[in-house]
Amino acid sequence: MKLTIDSFEEYKKIYDYSVSNPEAFWAEIAENFQWRKKWDTVVKWNFKEPNIRWFDGATLNITENCLDRHLDTIGDRPAIIWEPNDPEESHRVLTYKQLHEKVCQFANVLKNNGAKKGDRICIYMPMVPELAIAVLACARIGAIHSVVFGGFSAQSIADRIQDAGCTLVITADGGFRGTKEIPLKSVIDDALVQCHTVQKVIVLTRSRTPVSMIKGRDVWWEDELKKVETMGNPPCPAEEMAAEDELFILYTSGSTGKPKGVVHTCAGYMVYTGYTFANVFNYQPGEIYFCTADIGWITGHSYIVYGPLSQGATSLMFEGIPTWPDAGRFWDIVQKYQVNILYTAPTAIRSLMSFGLEPLEGKDLSSLKKLGSVGEPINEEAWHWYDEHIGKRKCPIVDTWWQTENGGIMISPIANVTPTKPGYATLPLPGVQPVIVDENGNEIAGNGVSGNLCIKFPWPGMLRTTYGDHERCRTTYFATYPDMYFTGDGCLRDEDGYYRITGRVDDVLNVSGHRIGTAEVENAINMHSSVVESAVVGYPHDIKGQGVYAFVVCPELHDDADLTRKDIVMTVSRIIGPIAKPDKIQFVSGLPKTRSGKIMRRILRKIAEGDTSNLGDTTTLLDPAVVEEIKAGAL
Ligand code: PRX
Repeated sequence: MKLTIDSFEEYKKIYDYSVSNPEAFWAEIAENFQWRKKWDTVVKWNFKEPNIRWFDGATLNITENCLDRHLDTIGDRPAIIWEPNDPEESHRVLTYKQLHEKVCQFANVLKNNGAKKGDRICIYMPMVPELAIAVLACARIGAIHSVVFGGFSAQSIADRIQDAGCTLVITADGGFRGTKEIPLKSVIDDALVQCHTVQKVIVLTRSRTPVSMIKGRDVWWEDELKKVETMGNPPCPAEEMAAEDELFILYTSGSTGKPKGVVHTCAGYMVYTGYTFANVFNYQPGEIYFCTADIGWITGHSYIVYGPLSQGATSLMFEGIPTWPDAGRFWDIVQKYQVNILYTAPTAIRSLMSFGLEPLEGKDLSSLKKLGSVGEPINEEAWHWYDEHIGKRKCPIVDTWWQTENGGIMISPIANVTPTKPGYATLPLPGVQPVIVDENGNEIAGNGVSGNLCIKFPWPGMLRTTYGDHERCRTTYFATYPDMYFTGDGCLRDEDGYYRITGRVDDVLNVSGHRIGTAEVENAINMHSSVVESAVVGYPHDIKGQGVYAFVVCPELHDDADLTRKDIVMTVSRIIGPIAKPDKIQFVSGLPKTRSGKIMRRILRKIAEGDTSNLGDTTTLLDPAVVEEIKAGAL
């Protein structure tokens, strides 16, 4: 079966086939990839344990699909175009041949530094081509990468390195984001004080920020490359991986405790990201595709690196931010490279909208053919602005709903195929079987209904476990409703059967498209020496989608409230990273709790949203008076 769907009628036919005959469907899709050995079974699964195995018996290496298989046909086509933070600096282009060569070289560097199949390697790098090279080099030798976004703190990195038992770290001296320089190596040094499994740190030169290099542990990327060159650049055959061998770990926040390491495996992830990329963006050979995410998040893994490269696409990678040197930065990039497909987040669209139309003046956006949105619900105002001012009403907008745990896009229009509707992720992709359930787990059938979103059949890109703690995977995703994967999202299905995702129904926030667990932020706030207790909820924020509102009990607070606020923000930044900083901190004398000691978040959420008209029943509270005080002091 060919990968791409060309009409809505064809979509409906293929969707039905994928549901009635999932094994045959996925086997036919998988034929479009390169295997060392084909599978014995397409899928074996149960959601009880859970135990999910796709393409069992097959062997492959994802980098052969992303690189080697393109060399004879499109070897001279750009695989990665890189636009630096500073528009004055030269951009770089790596063809498939060049990328292949660099990945092989760096894979040999990894081997020379003791890395082997199954090792966990932490990558903490700026958005430079070497980040993609490092990721692919790990995959080439069968090492499991764990990329940590550059906005996380030393403590967060240390937690992730320890949880996965990483033996090697790949980083850079520093990175640039707008006018800021991020001292990546120094953050790694702070993290490694607590991490005794790490034997080697490979440091790329990027910012020329002064760094300390520890003898025996730290080596320079460039020096190590020279060693491989002096060996005559030996080839680096790809490691033969079993279908279910682990490809990577990516940490993500949940409603409780510390972040969990979502595990994706080789074959299913490859097939799913390749299939969804080719379809959702209706990718045509030669098109320039620009995804503005960071490779530190799942969107970057699946739709900057693996998905586009497995399809021979040209993937544009941008190091900077949308608003520097000015709010026309994205549009300059679109014009400079004649970008055909732009995939970005609602928060970026809202932020750019707030600058008005002036940054768009004189910018040639006529190359754009398709637009995408990801990470959070897109409000209708932003959707229309994107449609009118960026797409000039001629580009379909694909509002793609999915999650780190899904590996790839799940519910989304297919560009030029599915009729779109503002604010709707529309219909499930072939192979995806969503169901809406009520609180008791009963399926709500029919259209014009709403409830919690679950998936009742496995898809190849789904998570297999949470690293080192399979029970956590079971309880988080497979225990809320029997025999279903629970997404944590609420949604509605309208009269046309179209899905609209309404947001999280658990204690997870989505701040600027970043997932943040309220419990994690509370734990960080509680580390501050004057804090006794805290509760964190989200509130609607014009640009970020959701802002972080913290109610904090600080009994010794006198007239230094502002300073304490700043100290608390600093503490969160230090423990988690700047992305989790509270936007509002309200000091309170106590939190609304039930007699059993449970915090009534529902009440706090209403107060944070500025809607105190109907707080519901407060009579079961331990101390109802506290609610009046909190209402009066709301920010
Ligand atoms: O609430 C949903 C929201 O983002 C969550 C997943 O976050 P994360 O794992 O960080 O992955 C983000 C990028 C794939 C979901 O549970 N979300 C993501 N995309 C959309 C969305 N909400 C509404 N519409 C979307 N298109």
